[in-house]
Amino acid sequence: MAILVTGGAGYIGSVVSEALLEDGQEVIALDNLSHGYPDAVPAGARLERGDVGDAGRLDEIFRQYAIDGVIHMAAFIEVGESVREPTKYLENNFARPLTLLEAMRRHKVRDFVLSSTAAVYGLPDATPIAESAPTRPINPYGSSKLMLETALAWQARSQGLRYAALRYFNAAGATAASGERHVPESHLIPLVLETAAGERPQLAIFGDDYDTPDGTCIRDYIHVRDLAEAHLIALRRLRDAPDAAESTAREAGAPQLATRAYNLGNGRGFSVREVIDAAERVCGKKIPVRLAPRRPGDPARLVAASDKMLAAGWRPRHTDLEEIIASAWRWKRQHAPAAKSQVSS
Ligand code: UFG
Repeated sequence: MAILVTGGAGYIGSVVSEALLEDGQEVIALDNLSHGYPDAVPAGARLERGDVGDAGRLDEIFRQYAIDGVIHMAAFIEVGESVREPTKYLENNFARPLTLLEAMRRHKVRDFVLSSTAAVYGLPDATPIAESAPTRPINPYGSSKLMLETALAWQARSQGLRYAALRYFNAAGATAASGERHVPESHLIPLVLETAAGERPQLAIFGDDYDTPDGTCIRDYIHVRDLAEAHLIALRRLRDAPDAAESTAREAGAPQLATRAYNLGNGRGFSVREVIDAAERVCGKKIPVRLAPRRPGDPARLVAASDKMLAAGWRPRHTDLEEIIASAWRWKRQHAPAAKSQVSS
C-alpha cells in the first residue's frame, strides 16, 4: 500500500516523504513542478508529474498504485500574492483539490491529511490559539485553505472520507537532505540566512511598532521534521481510530460538522528580532537590518496551542530556535549553491 503525497517535490512535501519512507511506507509524490524540484523528492519515493486538478492523470495514478491514503500539500503559499490574485489561490488551493477528492471517491481511497495553515484564524482574539478559536481569514490564502477544510468536512459526512486538517504555524529548519528553497523567497528564516551569507545586503524588518515586547511580530516556529511526524500520527489515527465524534454526529443527524483540525506549533513565540539574534549566534555573523513598513495582513502574534496533536502522541523534538535555525543554515551551506544554479538554469 502506498501514500500519495501531493506537492511531494516541495519543501514540506519532501520532508514528509522522507518520514513516511523511514516509517516503511511506499510514497508516490505527485507534483506539477510549478514550484517543486525533482531532486527534492527523496530516493525511494516515486515522482509522478501531474496536477491535482487533472482527473484523467489522477485516474491513471490511482489505477497504477495501491494508494490507501493521500497527504495533500500541493498549494500556493504566498499570502501577499493571494491578496493580489485571489482567484489564482481559490482555484489552485480550493477548486483543484475537489477533483482530487472526487478521484479518491471513485477509487475508494478514504484517508486524507490536509496541509492547512494558521492563516485560517486571521487576527486571533487571544494566544495561544486553540482549534476552537474562530476562523476568520484575512487573506485569500487562508480562505482557500478554510474552504477546502469545509469541503472535507462535508465529504466526511456524506461520503465517509476520513480526514485531518493540520494547521501549520511557521514551518522552519531542514533535515540533512531537504530544506527550504522558495522562488522568490519571502519567509523570514531563509531571508535572514541569505543575508548572513552575504547574498542580500540587508534584512527588512516589517514593522517594529506592534504590541509585542520589542515591537516586532511574534511567530511560533516549528521544525519541519516535527511537522512531518505529525502527518504520520494523523494518518495512523485515521486508519486505527476513525473520528467517533463525526460518526456520532452523523448518526444523530447533528447539523454541525465535527472539526478535525489540529494545530501544529511549539507553543512558544519568537519575535522577528529574536530570530535575527538567534541567527547571528548560529552563523557567527552580524546580520545587517533595516526597518521597513508593516507588511499588510501580518498579525502581531501567532502562537499555537497544539494540545490536540500532543494528546494524540505527538512529541516535537527540535523545539530550540537556535537548533531549528542551525539545521537550515547547515542545509543552506551544503545544498543551496546547487539549488541556486538549478533555479537560474
Ligand atoms: N518578516 C520580516 N522580514 C522579512 C520577512 C518576514 O520582518 O523579510 C516578518 C513578517 O512580517 C512576519 C515574520 O517575519 O512577522 C514571519 O514571516 P514569514 O513570511 O516567514 O511567515 P508568516 O508568519 O507570514 O507566514 C507563515 C507561513 C504562511 C502562513 C502563515 C500563517 O509562511 O504560509 O504563516 O499565518 F500562511
